[in-house]
Amino acid sequence: MFSFGRGGRRWRADTGLGRVIVEDARPDDAAALLGVHSEVLEEGLYFITEPDELTESVASKAALIRDLNRRPNARFFVARLEGEAVGMLLVQGGNLRRLHHNARIEIYVAARARGAGVGSALMSSCVEWATENPIITKLSLNVFAHNVRAIKLYERFGFTREGYRAREYRLADGRYLDDVLMSRAVEGDGAAGEGGAFSA
Ligand SMILES: CC(C)(COP(=O)(O)OP(=O)(O)OC[C@H]1O[C@@H](n2cnc3c(N)ncnc32)[C@H](O)[C@@H]1OP(=O)(O)O)[C@@H](O)C(=O)NCCC(=O)NCCS
Repeated sequence: MFSFGRGGRRWRADTGLGRVIVEDARPDDAAALLGVHSEVLEEGLYFITEPDELTESVASKAALIRDLNRRPNARFFVARLEGEAVGMLLVQGGNLRRLHHNARIEIYVAARARGAGVGSALMSSCVEWATENPIITKLSLNVFAHNVRAIKLYERFGFTREGYRAREYRLADGRYLDDVLMSRAVEGDGAAGEGGAFSA
């Protein structure tokens, strides 16, 4: 098991591939992160978006990084391995008041950096950040039912299945994919307790 240190908004972990640092992404990471994003989509196995449906540019990725890292209930994290951006995790609470507390997660690690602990480092940073965040009380995500590696990662971080949608997605060749909804509660000091948000 690797250990975690934390200085400011930066987490460090020793992985099978060297020292990984997780921190807030910067707008100048946009080109590298767009590269990781398109590489993962090219694999065709893990996301709804097909590679030619990715409409983001370096400028729009930079704008998204700025936007998420300015919001009090969102973060765009980057994982750097020996200085190179090899992964990212986006965690976004909803914009509507009734969804502020519920943050959705998306995670991408470049194929060359998988299986060494980078995804774990991103998830660990995210859970710690969410636990300290006074707004977020729930983390949720969707994952294809066949994505066993990702599901195992989420389970290791305390996520449980809260729903299953059969034949939710249809591939170009006519095959269907099932969708799993997973979530976990996060309870930091600032989080409202049971019924807290609604207590009169
Ligand atoms: C899912 C994903 C984010 C996981 O990231 P990852 O970096 O591969 O995850 P980790 O390396 O932390 O954990 C994966 C494995 O490595 C092992 N591992 C963790 N830390 C380790 C370390 N320090 N040294 C060696 N192995 C380690 C874990 O035990 C785990 O093993 P297992 O799942 O085979 O039992 C990544 O595979 C990915 O981006 N996949 C494609 C996109 C995707 O599926 N995104 C999620 C869509 S919902």
